[in-house]
Amino acid sequence: MKIKTAEFVISNTDYKKGPTDGKPEYAFIGRSNVGKSSLINMLTNHKKLAKTSGKPGKTQLINHFVINDEWYIVDLPGYGYAKASKQSRAKWEKFIVEYLTNSKSLVTIFVLLDSRLEPQKIDLEFMNWCGEKELPFSMVFTKIDKLSSTQLQKNMAKYRKEMLKYWAELPPLFTTSSESKFGQEKMLNYIGDLNSQIIP
Ligand code: GTP
Ligand code: MG
Repeated sequence: MKIKTAEFVISNTDYKKGPTDGKPEYAFIGRSNVGKSSLINMLTNHKKLAKTSGKPGKTQLINHFVINDEWYIVDLPGYGYAKASKQSRAKWEKFIVEYLTNSKSLVTIFVLLDSRLEPQKIDLEFMNWCGEKELPFSMVFTKIDKLSSTQLQKNMAKYRKEMLKYWAELPPLFTTSSESKFGQEKMLNYIGDLNSQIIP
């Protein structure tokens, strides 16, 4: 799939105030600082479509971007930000959970995982929660430019092993770098294939 246009639409904390035109939505989620906003910019060939930051906790709202006037990318705040207060974490839970469980147009969730790290409890818990709620998701390993391919294979193997303790089969897997643009075509083609099954 080619990106012709990518535009910011709306930010909010209430999923009911988001777009209601039924275009397919693809949500990007993962630990704070894992590279969600950077990946969105990489996929869309934009430098500043989604706001990025070296400090965790940058994205605070549900952000909709419309792509090719056909589908939405949804940038979400990260989870597991250690410095967030209990109160703001509870608020996070509520509005993200409401969006993810109530959105009628959500096609799939891209769960971003830092490829440099061992399997993280919070990520495994989130993916298991998606399973309980029957929400389809993919695993997207980020920042692969930061480690050797041997190390990447090792870390991914650990993730596979860990996931297979809970799951009969693995979800789709992507490896990406927002620096080198690795993974762009595969992810866009995956989205394009899903869209072609949905958009008349
Ligand atoms: P929150 O909005 O705070 O939840 O973070 P986020 O997941 O949106 O992360 P963001 O895209 O803002 O990136 C966090 C930091 O990681 C920034 O300093 C990015 O430049 C860096 N980063 C993101 N992706 C990559 C990547 O593929 N390679 C490298 N080397 N750095 C990356
Ligand atoms: Mg962000």
